[in-house]
Amino acid sequence: MPGLDDVTRGRVLFGGDYNPEQWPEETWPEDVRLMRDAGVNSVTLGVFSWARIEPRPGARDFGWLDRLMDLMHAAGIGVVLATPTASPPPWLGHLHPDTLPRDADGRTEWWGGRQHFSHSSATYRRHAAVVTEDLAARYAGHPALTMWHINNEYCTYDWGDEAAARFRGWLRTRYGTLDALNTAWGTAFWSQAYGDWREILPPRHAHYLKNPTQVLDFKRFTSDMLLECYAAERDIVRRHTPHLPVTTNFMPLWAGLDAWRWAEEEDVVSVDLYPDPRDPSGAQAGALVQDMTRSQARGPWMLMEQAAGPVNWRGVNHPKPRGLNRLWSLQAVARGADAVCYFQWRQSRQGAEKFHSGMVSHAGEHGRTYQEVKRLGADLARIGPEVAGRHRAADVAVLHDWHAWWAGDQEARPSREVAHPDLLTAWHRALWRAHLTTDFAHPEHDLGAYRLVVAPQLYLLTDAAIANLLAYVRQGGTLVCGFLTGVADEDDRIRPGGMDARLRELFGIRTLHEWWPLEPGERADCDGFAGTLWSEELEADGTADETVLYKGGELDGLPAVLRKGRAWYVSTLPEPDALRDLLARVAADAGARPVLDGLPADVEAVRRGDLLFLLHHGREEVTVEVPGTHRDLLTDTVVTDRVTLGRYGVAVLKP
Ligand code: GAL
Repeated sequence: MPGLDDVTRGRVLFGGDYNPEQWPEETWPEDVRLMRDAGVNSVTLGVFSWARIEPRPGARDFGWLDRLMDLMHAAGIGVVLATPTASPPPWLGHLHPDTLPRDADGRTEWWGGRQHFSHSSATYRRHAAVVTEDLAARYAGHPALTMWHINNEYCTYDWGDEAAARFRGWLRTRYGTLDALNTAWGTAFWSQAYGDWREILPPRHAHYLKNPTQVLDFKRFTSDMLLECYAAERDIVRRHTPHLPVTTNFMPLWAGLDAWRWAEEEDVVSVDLYPDPRDPSGAQAGALVQDMTRSQARGPWMLMEQAAGPVNWRGVNHPKPRGLNRLWSLQAVARGADAVCYFQWRQSRQGAEKFHSGMVSHAGEHGRTYQEVKRLGADLARIGPEVAGRHRAADVAVLHDWHAWWAGDQEARPSREVAHPDLLTAWHRALWRAHLTTDFAHPEHDLGAYRLVVAPQLYLLTDAAIANLLAYVRQGGTLVCGFLTGVADEDDRIRPGGMDARLRELFGIRTLHEWWPLEPGERADCDGFAGTLWSEELEADGTADETVLYKGGELDGLPAVLRKGRAWYVSTLPEPDALRDLLARVAADAGARPVLDGLPADVEAVRRGDLLFLLHHGREEVTVEVPGTHRDLLTDTVVTDRVTLGRYGVAVLKP
């Protein structure tokens, strides 16, 4: 199978979404000049160009795209060509209202924005296939074409009638019989038993709480339907260009797609990443997504979109202060990106994103944004040959599973304060602050290569996943599980005892009497730290090697944390410093070392191959001790034993 290596060929790809159809053609030569000056070597064309390519049903206008493809080729810039299917032209919805999705309240999502397509609509799928076929046939042999980009950020839901019919088909495949479905969904509760497949609906607007397994299956179904749409277009372009890789861009930690499953269907895994420049944890938020994407790709990956300056979709949209764009871009490279790309090349003057930055902002060529982009292009050109294609697996893995998220974060549960992504973030942040690089893994993946595996929260665990975790510990691995792990089975049925019996035995828990969720701001005092968010009334079975107890309150003297051999259970969310200290200690005991010892708090260190990236997230100058002699690839200077980094400074050290 073709991969990212076939495109990068020893370079880091640099560029972004290029939407020249928004501009008069006179602008194009200037675009090319500025791209070349900035070291742009890759652009994504056509993401939202369906109405331009097919202005009327069946008509074709490829002339403009022919000229652009030729222009890019002449400039030595590769083209990632997108299928335009994320935003159908108005005529499609007008002539075929069945292509439009409905929300859970039955309201139609009309054209006038984007992504107004129903994943289940046969008409939409047919039209998308035809335009994809024609695009692929036309450009298959074009020398500028390097990769395919299918659709854009698949993220739509549909509760309409055609989706309902497909949902029934999906359920038939999953369960075979209505009896099996009724059992899995627990329809004995509230008189929900189904006697005919035609009675089954997506979880539409209802008077009161919906059936949780129906909701869970609808999420599974939605991810699968979107994947069918992706796969259909992928197979078309693959038929024309078997030698070129295919990707689609994920939204970071997006609830709608099981990205583990999706990544298996892609040649290149790519993601869009927009941390808030004002967020004090923005760097770690970025690192989390980068680690997750690298893990899905099992190696180098593509940063398909980021913003060179402000976005336009937050309440208040902050620009990136001087140097931050470079720092966060190089952070992505440190964590495995072989492509640093943006939405979008030139900031739009019209349309919904005219306040969203581009690589060339409204200030133009002399604006700070473009000038910084240019500097970054030069940096990437310098380090590209040394980094592209390199990979280094981490010693620590964080477990994450979309199905556990979907099942766990539903309406009626002990506490709506608990959010799966927040827990993932808290645990990843603790490891990040301890300077431990982490991969992510699925609970059914082979975990044997990791010294430490942590599960911030896996509310739903399949039997296969439980067996996998037990085997991992049996074979010498160290496992730390957070609360609400192993509670439900695959159908969201609570396991007897409130936590799987095998896991209780693993941690030394006899009885889980009650969950005691905490109010926002409430603390559960423990020996040596405070817990937040959650606590549990646990009875130990006397086999644990170590326990930390709750102090005071209703749970006084009961175990908050248990360790039995190499298996840990943490029944609360320790405050950030305490969680960092706990995980750092467990990692050290497991033989997982921080990237460097004695790092200043603001400096992130990451290894990629034999390169050491030092990324300074602060504004005051710091000195980092790095024993030995290295060459800094960014400055081409030799550094011995220490490196000084200024505001948002970066060093890329080669031994
Ligand atoms: C992404 C999208 C782009 C652009 C960008 C703005 O979600 O793929 O087309 O809208 O956000 O941040």
